Amino acid sequence: MELSEHSKESLRALTAWWEDAGVSVDQKSIDRILKVGSAPKQPARTASDPSSPSAPAAAPQSSSARAKAKAEGPLTKARALADGATTLEALRAAIEGFDGCDLKTTASKTVIADGNPAADIMVIGEGPGRDEDKEGRPFVGNAGHLLDRMLASIGLSRKENTYITNVNYWRPPGNRNPSEDELAICRPFVDKHIALVKPKLIIAAGTVTAKSLLGVEEGITRLRGRQFDLTVPGLSSPVPVFPIFHPAYLLRRPAEKAKAWSDLLNILNTLETLGIAPDKRP
Ligand code: URA
Repeated sequence: MELSEHSKESLRALTAWWEDAGVSVDQKSIDRILKVGSAPKQPARTASDPSSPSAPAAAPQSSSARAKAKAEGPLTKARALADGATTLEALRAAIEGFDGCDLKTTASKTVIADGNPAADIMVIGEGPGRDEDKEGRPFVGNAGHLLDRMLASIGLSRKENTYITNVNYWRPPGNRNPSEDELAICRPFVDKHIALVKPKLIIAAGTVTAKSLLGVEEGITRLRGRQFDLTVPGLSSPVPVFPIFHPAYLLRRPAEKAKAWSDLLNILNTLETLGIAPDKRP
């Protein structure tokens, strides 16, 4: 039985809320219920085709193996494009020209980055929402305004000393979370982005970002307040990553702002230790 659009919307909102709160969500099962990314059409079978009924049956593939195989082609293409990009401009053109992520078909704009590309600090978010999809820049809606205020509280701004991007470049329909496959397909671009900007510190906003970047299963409530080291192809040393609550979550749960403030102070301390604290300190 297929869910109504209203029920699908409620399920998306509920699971996004769980993710924000740090509860581990099995996105693949949710996608199955929502019937996201339905299987590609099978080519017609012929007698000489090994998939023909007369041929010996192949071992059934698990859904994760099928999803992996489905993502393999676009992933290879994304890797080749990312490898070939040696400047930020070339990377931007490569992402804009890439058609391997299904999310692009429903998004209005490709949203790549904002801020100062020479900055030592990189903020990475989950992906564009409605406002970003309209404007073509990351973090320009209400969550973005709160992010700007959070950064300003420790002397950072996207104009001067911060560069902002996402782990996915196209708004998912209905604002659902990007699936694991969609994130995997974007990952070569994300890695190359980090390698080209060479940040000295990364702030990972929200569960989806932190889990995807760090390859961990825990939610943001367990990841925040800690420092992780991210190894990126092309960079000689790992980059420290600080997961924080997503600003959109803080808008819904203002009581959590105290923890976010403590995380920001922790980040400021680290910037001081690294000798890259902003001149204009609060
Ligand atoms: N939320 C994100 O994670 N990224 C954006 O660009 C906007 C909202």
